[in-house]
Amino acid sequence: MNRHILRWLIAGTLIAASPYATAQDQAAIEAGEKVYEEHCQSCHGEKLRSAGAMPDLREIRQDERPKFDTMVMNGRSQMPAWQGIITPQELDQLWAYVRSRAR
Ligand code: HEC
Repeated sequence: MNRHILRWLIAGTLIAASPYATAQDQAAIEAGEKVYEEHCQSCHGEKLRSAGAMPDLREIRQDERPKFDTMVMNGRSQMPAWQGIITPQELDQLWAYVRSRAR
């Protein structure tokens, strides 16, 4: 095969592969933001900025996904349970959104 064509093929594959994952992540983050605005913002604050009374979800760490899932699905005291309302896919999207704003 001609070297020139080969180089274009490799470049094309790299360009096609890398933004794809990012675009997918970005889509999940945006979808998560919608779910958050609909179900969580009223308590946890606009753009995850808690006014103080509620836990600030930006404080959740990367390794706390299991705790996050349990909390969202089962609730606790004032925190409602979302089992049957939020789908597993929406839970992933919420997590992507929360992680994108972690500090
Ligand atoms: C009615 C108000 C309210 C709504 C709506 C609400 N939460 Fe909460 N949330 C709370 C309260 C209050 C707590 C603290 C509960 C406790 O610690 O006992 C909490 C705790 C949490 C925690 C645990 C935080 C930590 O660091 O311990 C997570 C995660 C969470 N909420 C996520 C969500 C998500 C995601 C949504 C939307 C699907 C949501 N919450 C909607 C009130 C709410």
